[in-house]
Amino acid sequence: MNGEKRVLVVGSGGRCHAIVDALSRSPQVGKIYCAPGNAGIAQQAECVAIGVENVDALVEFAKNEKIDLAVIGPEAALAVGVVNAFKENGLRAFGPTKEAAQIESSKEFAKRLMAKYEIPTAGYEAFSDYEGAWEYVKARPLPAVIKYDGLAAGKGVVVAESYEDAEAALRDMLLDESFGGGRVVVEDFLDGPEFSFMCVVSGEKVYPLAMAQDHKRAYDGDKGPNTGGMGAYSPVPFVTEEVEKFALEKIMRPTAKAMVAEGVPFVGVLYGGLILTNEGPKVIEFNARFGDPETEVVLPRLKSDIYALFDAAIDGRDCATEWSEEALLGVVMASKGYPGSYAKGAVIEGVEGLQSKAYHMGTAQKDGKLVTAGGRVLMVVGRGKTLAEAKAMAERDCAQIECENLFYRKDIGHKVLD
Ligand code: AMP
Ligand code: GLY
Repeated sequence: MNGEKRVLVVGSGGRCHAIVDALSRSPQVGKIYCAPGNAGIAQQAECVAIGVENVDALVEFAKNEKIDLAVIGPEAALAVGVVNAFKENGLRAFGPTKEAAQIESSKEFAKRLMAKYEIPTAGYEAFSDYEGAWEYVKARPLPAVIKYDGLAAGKGVVVAESYEDAEAALRDMLLDESFGGGRVVVEDFLDGPEFSFMCVVSGEKVYPLAMAQDHKRAYDGDKGPNTGGMGAYSPVPFVTEEVEKFALEKIMRPTAKAMVAEGVPFVGVLYGGLILTNEGPKVIEFNARFGDPETEVVLPRLKSDIYALFDAAIDGRDCATEWSEEALLGVVMASKGYPGSYAKGAVIEGVEGLQSKAYHMGTAQKDGKLVTAGGRVLMVVGRGKTLAEAKAMAERDCAQIECENLFYRKDIGHKVLD
């Protein structure tokens, strides 16, 4: 880091570590702060103990430290308006305003937008009453796709294979106050392989990033509950040039344009969670931020300067990106019990000296030792000429890491490697 730019990255997970790592390769950057960061990020940035939703403290810190550019990672920070506050204070922040972030925080906003601008996605109906929703679901074929309308950290979607499960999900989301008693969206079921297409967006400008595929289920063979993501790889062989072109021209660009037309221009990373159906790619969901764990396998492939990209996006300038041909594959090591309840504080050994890059998702330092501090703990990212090589590296290194309370999937990449 030989440059002069002072950067603040807001967040603490693996994607935040990958953003810090990418920024540390920028020739323009001289100093990186991270709020609040974690034990791994602390090796590459100066961590400051400010929570991601503490808007006033973040603004004050950025002013005092003369921050040139802030990258706002987590959805919670976007939803409380950290970017709005930075802008109001004349600070440069990369990320959407809270109005634009609704494309993630409100499923209904996203579905309406896609319907109005003819962006390919599953048909849907929205409900706030349990009776109406249940009448609708039981008259339709299975599986039933039921989504809670609001931020639910990947846990608000149920793909029910039986009417019994569908009914239970509707009860949970509409009658049980544990979800906050909101609205649900019931969607048509789409079939096909999923992939994640993240684009840096600035108003109508779209700068595509490399493709990745996530693995949402907890266990091997895509079994078990949905999680935030248990592993990822990039590139994605089944996303041909033709599919990418369709996704860019029929989905990502029209969505960026639609946001401008709706008066909520988007600046930041627009994450398309897409599914390749027989009729071409369709949208499963949009996120208003970098994906986690996709970012950890995508950003290391960026050969050009990420600071230049963020900087250009804030101003709406053009910016070319350059990508390596290398294949990356990352395996998430999670606390036993995740995505349900899990213990914290288990000692982790063997993370140093690996060939893979270990991005820290939820770690802390305690009494001089590295310990687990979250559901997802580490993402071990291998690389090579092929995905098979990258996988061999990641698996070998996962086996080097000793911790009694971690588990990981052994089949990351199975859709393209087996
Ligand atoms: P989401 O949080 O919207 O990404 O949904 C989580 C997961 O549920 C997705 O990754 C899909 O595997 C599945 N899913 C969501 N919507 C649909 C749909 N309309 N058809 C089939 N699967 C879906
Ligand atoms: N990996 C999915 C997400 O970031 O939401």
